[in-house]
Amino acid sequence: MTKVLAISGSLRSDSFNSKLLRNAVEFFSDDVEIEILDGLKDIPPYDEDDDGDGAPEAVHALRAAFAGADAVFISTPEYNSSVPGQLKNALDWVSRPLATNPLRNKPAVVVGASTGAFGAVWAQAELRKVLAAIGARVVEAEVAVGHAPTRFDEDGTLVDEDLREQLGEVVEALVSAVAERQELARTAA
Ligand SMILES: Cc1cc2nc3c(=O)[nH]c(=O)nc-3n(C[C@H](O)[C@H](O)[C@H](O)COP(=O)(O)O)c2cc1C
Repeated sequence: MTKVLAISGSLRSDSFNSKLLRNAVEFFSDDVEIEILDGLKDIPPYDEDDDGDGAPEAVHALRAAFAGADAVFISTPEYNSSVPGQLKNALDWVSRPLATNPLRNKPAVVVGASTGAFGAVWAQAELRKVLAAIGARVVEAEVAVGHAPTRFDEDGTLVDEDLREQLGEVVEALVSAVAERQELARTAA
């Protein structure tokens, strides 16, 4: 069964990005298992002195979650035109050792929501750059939910039809990228 690790880059309890992520999860078919990453707040700041076999337990769990997934789906907020520190920090831990990190060649897709007009487009672009640097296979698709407080109903459902359609397309693009990778692995075997 295909497994997707779903990550909200926000720690906020009423986060629009967490809502966006939950809406995206509903577009995956039943034969895709979704794990929503928990514990981003428990990841300590990256310190190369602490890395290696003695890395913190939260980091082992984080790396295991990435290693166990066939693909990664991230919804990122935008902080000061870039990726929030807690998300970048987690990816820095995941990225080491670079040659064998669990994101290498793994399909990854990024969407985002912000309260401003542009839907975290700069943070999304920077996150794609970071993911590519780590070695992920970044799916070039985007959903930018601007003016986020007006886009969800009380239950957290994304109510904008265009955005819903885009979210469905992004999910489809990620699933196709996984299928392509699995097919390549089969023919190479
Ligand atoms: C430290 C900080 C910086 C922010 N910078 C931006 C920004 O550069 N662009 C933007 O559109 N929104 C910015 N915002 C507003 C966020 O879009 C808003 O807080 C949003 O709700 C965060 O996502 P969340 O709801 O998933 O937590 C910023 C918010 C914070 C707390």
